[in-house]
Formats: sequence, C-alpha cells, structure tokens
Amino acid sequence: MIDDLTERQKRETYDNWVSRGAAWDANADRMQKLARGLNQPLIEAANIRAGQHVLDLASGAGEPAMSIAELVGREGSVTATDLVPQMLAGARRRVAEAGIGNVAFEVADMESLPFVDDRFGAVTCRLGLMYVPSPERAAAEARRVLKDGGRAAFLVWGPHEDNTQFMVLDRVLKQVMDIDPHEGAFTPTRFGAAGAISAVLSAGGFAEVEERELRFSPRVDPAVGFWRPQLALRLGERLQAMSEADRERLDKAMAEAFEAHRDGDRIQLQAHARVGVGW
Ligand SMILES: C[S@@+](CC[C@H](N)C(=O)[O-])C[C@H]1O[C@@H](n2cnc3c(N)ncnc32)[C@H](O)[C@@H]1O
Repeated sequence: MIDDLTERQKRETYDNWVSRGAAWDANADRMQKLARGLNQPLIEAANIRAGQHVLDLASGAGEPAMSIAELVGREGSVTATDLVPQMLAGARRRVAEAGIGNVAFEVADMESLPFVDDRFGAVTCRLGLMYVPSPERAAAEARRVLKDGGRAAFLVWGPHEDNTQFMVLDRVLKQVMDIDPHEGAFTPTRFGAAGAISAVLSAGGFAEVEERELRFSPRVDPAVGFWRPQLALRLGERLQAMSEADRERLDKAMAEAFEAHRDGDRIQLQAHARVGVGW
C-alpha cells in the first residue's frame, strides 16, 4: 500500500518535472542573479573548497552545480544529478556553452543514489528535497556517499506566507484558471517550518545538524513583468497549451495582484528560505 503510494507520488513528480524542463532551460540564464543569492549561503553551509569533489542533487537546469564547478576549480569536480533527464538538458546545454570542463552528469534518484560509499567531499541540494516521497531516505543516501568530515547542505523554501511570489501566484492561478496550488504530490514550502529540515537530516543519520534562516526583500520593477518566469517555471507545458486570451488574462491578473505590494515605483517582495546542513 505504502509502496503503491510512493510509486504514484514519484511518477507524478517525474511527469510534472518532465513538462517543466524546457521552461526551466529557457529561463535559467535570466534567473542567474537570483541563483547567486541562493547559492552563496548553500555553498558556505556545505563548506565547499577548491579541489573538492561535490555531488549536487536535483540539479535541474544547472544551479548550484555550475557555480560550485567554478569554485572547486580544475582540481575538483561536480557531479550534477537529477531524477528527470528533461530537467538536466538545460544544465548540459549551459555547461557546454560556458565551456565548463569539470561537471559530470548523471540521471539519479536522490532516494537511491548510484554511487559508492564515501565518494564525495560535499553534497548540495537546492530546492529539490521537498519533492521526494521519503526525504529521510534521501538524507541517509547523502550521508552514505559523503566522506568523513564532509557536509551535506539542503536549501528549502520557508513558510508559504513568507514568500510573496508563492502567495500571489497560487491565489491568482486558483482564481483565474482554477488551478489548484496544492495539486501534485508535494508543495515547494513543505519544509517551511523552523526545525523541519533539521529533523529530516537527523532522521537520515547525521550526527550534527544545523539550520539557518535566509530572508530576502527584493524590490522589483513591475514594468518588466517579473512574475512571468515564475509562471513559466510553475506551469511548464501547460502555459504553452493555453490560448493567447487566457495567457493575457493571467498576466493581467498577476500584475493587478502584485499591486497590493507596491511601495513607490517598485513592488516590495518578501522571500524566506532555509538551509539545513548535516555532518
Ligand atoms: C525546483 S527544481 C530545482 C532545480 C535546481 N536545483 C535549482 O535550484 O534551480 C527541483 C528539481 O528536483 C528534481 N527532483 C524531483 N524529485 C527528485 C528525486 N527523487 N531525485 C532527484 N531529483 C529530483 C526535479 O526533477 C527538479 O529538477
């Protein structure tokens, strides 16, 4: 019974990300500034240094794997992994275009890693752990493939109500398109509560665990339609399948909904993420 449920959740997650692969690839380059803000605390928490061999889980369209590759340098390497080949396609393209030579790719489920014990100096995972049926098993796998003294760091979103973009996006999608924000097996803010990510790492067998809170308050220009990449990443192929009129209706509703957060000529957003680190 439990295995059936797990299987169904995994399949649903897989299909969902397959449909989003092209949108993540198309938007990855323009999201690079956001990527840097999220990468830095994750890289610090994992204590990544030049020359290390690092495993990145759920690499998607390539971050933080690409930034880590630069940091570890030619003596080091990054193994970028993801459950979904269509998500890794963006990472492969971007790594090739940037001429980065120290990234290897592998399609891999983080709940069952195809690597021997004690292989990596550090493990990272940015915004991926929330999508697995058993995050504790994923944490145990990260611990298994870590060398003694290495650290595994997982970045997750904080509570839903602390993330303006999720709040607005979910409300508008429900109102305008009748799309249920909680459809799919798991929500991005699954580990939003303080202590949630530490509990997963402890259950995965890490002896020492620490959790850090990250808060951002970006002021963004409404004229540039800053919500469009988020819509594309969330809806994937579904956005393409909508009629032009529906897309316009959605876009207008997003613009109007963000007006509630206007401060002068900018929209004031709030974002809350958390880093859990185990060693
Ligand atoms: C929000 S994206 C994060 C991608 C990238 N790390 C980033 O921050 O831009 C979540 C990723 O988790 C991947 N994923 C979901 N379940 C997974 C699993 N069991 N093992 C590995 N990756 C998984 C998805 O395919 C997707 O690429």
